[in-house]
Amino acid sequence: MSTIQVHDKFFIPYLSEEKIIEKVKQLAERINSDYKDKRPLFISILNGSFMFSADLFKFLTIESEICFIKLASYKGTKSSGQVITAIGLDTDIHGRDIIILEDIIDTGKTLSQFLPQVFNQQPASLKIAVLLHKPEATVHPVDIDYTCFSIPNKFVLGYGLDYNGLGRNLSQLYQLKEE
Ligand code: XMP
Ligand code: MG
Repeated sequence: MSTIQVHDKFFIPYLSEEKIIEKVKQLAERINSDYKDKRPLFISILNGSFMFSADLFKFLTIESEICFIKLASYKGTKSSGQVITAIGLDTDIHGRDIIILEDIIDTGKTLSQFLPQVFNQQPASLKIAVLLHKPEATVHPVDIDYTCFSIPNKFVLGYGLDYNGLGRNLSQLYQLKEE
């Protein structure tokens, strides 16, 4: 597989669809076991998490519910530092076992700004599951309970993640090519 162009930038293949799905399946199996007597409510953070959430959900065998919120902080290939709530939480999470689904934790700003809203509503428990984590980029530390892949501090795209709106449809992950 070869280099692709999205807008003005070039990307190289990084993680294959098979590798991603395998990890997502393993994550679902852990959740199936950890929550076997519970009925978790997943909060999926749009837009980037839609593909990860959909694939994970297909492998869940426990009773589960899901709702969606939309937060945005990225402009191009850099975090803008400003987190905007475009669609807020409309579900009662009081007393529920919550699992937040996020595509990627980069600086940690998006999640660290959202978490107080969740705690305020007093869920019974709260865990965070991420597809990707960039440990070297962390500015706002967040306790992550489930991570599929820890990756270097390089911009990635595909499998729901975009560069200025494009690339979300790619079934595998690509990494920004060094200039
Ligand atoms: P923070 O910095 O708040 O970022 O942890 C989290 C959000 O920023 C987006 N993000 C990325 N999107 N490739 C992308 O396509 C990346 O490498 C990347 N890093 C961060 C993403 O939406 C995430 O929810
Ligand atoms: Mg996101």
